[in-house]
Amino acid sequence: MKWAVLVGGRGSNLAALLDAGLDVGLVVSHRAEVGALDIAARAGVPARVLLPRAGRGPLAYDRELASWLGEAHIDAVVAAGYLRILRAPVIDRYPGRILNVHPSLLPAFAGLHAIEQTLAHGVKVTGVTVHLVDAGLDSGPIVAQQAVAVAPDDTPATLSARLQVVEHRLLPAAAWALDQGRLRVNGRHVIWTEPETHARFDEGR
Ligand code: GRF
Repeated sequence: MKWAVLVGGRGSNLAALLDAGLDVGLVVSHRAEVGALDIAARAGVPARVLLPRAGRGPLAYDRELASWLGEAHIDAVVAAGYLRILRAPVIDRYPGRILNVHPSLLPAFAGLHAIEQTLAHGVKVTGVTVHLVDAGLDSGPIVAQQAVAVAPDDTPATLSARLQVVEHRLLPAAAWALDQGRLRVNGRHVIWTEPETHARFDEGR
């Protein structure tokens, strides 16, 4: 499968996907001058920036994004640090083939600033969720989750650093499972049809 990775930040998850050997054929960022674009360039992966423009609504934005994905013959998509809600033109083109990584145990703390929401709420345990993307906000069927303890003196930076270690294992494992047809979706339930064998995932269990 040829993958696109949608980004908007540092790109550490993009780096983890590339390290895991996923066939990434296109990177699209909704922001210019982000670290993810440098990571794509260093890896020799084509990268494009699609900036939101005043006067162009989200549907028009996603129609253009979908046409870029089509031109690049993309089969499946990962959103990693992509801070936009995907709309019908993209979602309908890739049913069950879009993954998102989110730094909380969904359905807790969906949306922006999940780590700040987590710390403000005072929960003792949080974690990472990888889920299939549907039309809602961080609401699609859950593919993988792993818990991370919150320390009393955690700051957004310290908690984020521990969550990212988990993201970099969970996201490539989920992407490979989808790539190899090892995920079966039954309503809200995603079943891994074969025992997970990907080394980066197993080492964390
Ligand atoms: C990740 O922590 C992810 O959970 C969130 O945005 C961050 C992106 O990080 N959606 P990076 O750009 O992959 O380093």
